[in-house]
Amino acid sequence: MGKRCARRRWLATTCLGTALLLLCVAPRALYPALESRALGPNWLRGRKSPLQRLHDLDQGLRSPLAEVHRQRRDQLRRACSRHTRRQRLLRPEDLRHVLVDDTHGLLYCYVPKVACTNWKRVLLTLSGGARGDPRGIPAHEAHLPGRLPSLADFSPAEINRRLRTYLAFLFVRDPFERLASAYRNKFARPYSAAFQRRYGTRIVRRLRPQAGPEALARGHDVRFAEFLAYLLDPRTRRQEPFNEHWERAHALCHPCRLRYDVVGKFETLAEDAAFVLGLAGEPGLRFPAPPRPKAVMAARDYAALLFRDISPFYQRRLFDLYKMDFLLFNYSAPPYLRLH
Ligand SMILES: *[C@@H]1O[C@H](CO)[C@@H](O)[C@H](O)[C@H]1NC(C)=O
Repeated sequence: MGKRCARRRWLATTCLGTALLLLCVAPRALYPALESRALGPNWLRGRKSPLQRLHDLDQGLRSPLAEVHRQRRDQLRRACSRHTRRQRLLRPEDLRHVLVDDTHGLLYCYVPKVACTNWKRVLLTLSGGARGDPRGIPAHEAHLPGRLPSLADFSPAEINRRLRTYLAFLFVRDPFERLASAYRNKFARPYSAAFQRRYGTRIVRRLRPQAGPEALARGHDVRFAEFLAYLLDPRTRRQEPFNEHWERAHALCHPCRLRYDVVGKFETLAEDAAFVLGLAGEPGLRFPAPPRPKAVMAARDYAALLFRDISPFYQRRLFDLYKMDFLLFNYSAPPYLRLH
């Protein structure tokens, strides 16, 4: 019995993998209009799909913003072919982070610490058809598991249908600024007691010689250097995958295996979010509270400050750990690093 299940599961995985791999090489949605008809009469109700709108923009109605996004897509594709080798097949659970909006035909891969709470709020508003303001949705509600369907919940055929016809997007951020933000949010601030207990105590126990009893019990005072040592310790990933707040964006979203139509950036969140919402046919929807330029600068300064106390040896190893995110999403090594 157990064996048969395991076998069936293996078969399903293989089929999905094959189908997904095929998708990556097959040109997608050359005729989006035909594709969307295949989805049934209720989808879109005569409106254009986001993918069709993007296709139209690329065909002629080029805007400067559309051109930026086309270049980013090309850059990602080039980086993928340059830096990735043959990869293992995707399993359904690899698609856990890809959220689905069937109303508009959107796939959003969420990367924590890159405005993902606000994107979840927006998707809830979009898929619920709610006219309300996404800002009114409490953060904990936006994060409730199951509020938004994940691509991993569907059958392989349904997954492939959505991958073929929906507009897929993700938002990324400078990898070290994201890491600094995760550290600040989960370890440095007093209110992340759950994270401090779960990960902080583990870090203190493993990496701090002569830790005091309070630190061992609460894990409340983890230093950035200790956090980095934990990330670089080979035992960490041997025990379990990285927590999603510091897992590399490429490992969460598989940008070299799934085709992303829009690569949004935290640094230009307001424009990029407006671009996606325009494609979704909801240009009136305002993205909640994108960071002001001053906040983007402050995040950079904070990362620079944290890295100042890290030895060049550790900086180099950490850069290697996050290198694919730098390369795939066209971030250059930050000037505050001492890599040589
Ligand atoms: C990649 O980054 C470089 C340097 O920041 C920039 O000049 C270039 O326009 C970027 N390319 C794309 C496709 O975004």
